[in-house]
Amino acid sequence: MDAQAAEVAADPETTRRAKKVCFCKEVDLGTIEDAIRSHGLTSVEAVRQHTNAFGGCCKRRIEDILATMPVSSPPAMLQAAE
Ligand code: FES
Repeated sequence: MDAQAAEVAADPETTRRAKKVCFCKEVDLGTIEDAIRSHGLTSVEAVRQHTNAFGGCCKRRIEDILATMPVSSPPAMLQAAE
């Protein structure tokens, strides 16, 4: 096990976030959670637009993630940029 793999294995949060959600496009949970939080995403289509996740066979997993995350507005600066 190399040093980076050992570090990932030692941190449960890093391990959780590294879990693949979209296997077709190799997008992990952390990337999707960050996009949802940063942009206030509420749909699979919006997640698709902000990440590489395709939302085909992983659509249900993305819906589950969206359902577990609190809905929040993106920072005003981001809203202005979109
Ligand atoms: S896992 Fe197949 S489209 Fe995401």
